[in-house]
Amino acid sequence: MAERAPGKETKAKKKPAELSKEFIKIIKEWQKLEDDTIKFSEEIMKKSKNKLIKLTMDMIRHDSQKHKVMQQMLIDSVTKEPFVLAPEDLNVIGAGLNEHLAAEAKSLELADEALLNSELFVTRYVLSYLIADEQKHHALLGKLNELKRATVFVT
Ligand SMILES: [Fe+2]
Ligand SMILES: [Fe+2]
Repeated sequence: MAERAPGKETKAKKKPAELSKEFIKIIKEWQKLEDDTIKFSEEIMKKSKNKLIKLTMDMIRHDSQKHKVMQQMLIDSVTKEPFVLAPEDLNVIGAGLNEHLAAEAKSLELADEALLNSELFVTRYVLSYLIADEQKHHALLGKLNELKRATVFVT
């Protein structure tokens, strides 16, 4: 992620690697695989009667659909309109961001506590997935919060 201070744009700036053909090629190839993953997950969901297997496949299917949308955003940011994150954008998420961060941190605490109080494979399996997700949410918000404090202009 390239960062620069506001108003310090130079005309001689080197093109980002994302504008190479290679980058788009990789993302498009990856995006196609998401369709395979969705198909495999659906096939197993149809075949299995087990709730845990169905849940796992459903989560993978959902995640893959989400990945496709995110990959498309990456593709569009190169082929259509670049991503820009201005200090004003971060101001909009404003004070609510801290509360959101706190809620995610509390969720993570509860999830860890639940894991400590569990011993069955299936419980721990589901909890581990949830913990990874909650950590992810907290980390994503944390990154936005850092940017907000630094008030940098990011592309
Ligand atoms: Fe994926
Ligand atoms: Fe969360």
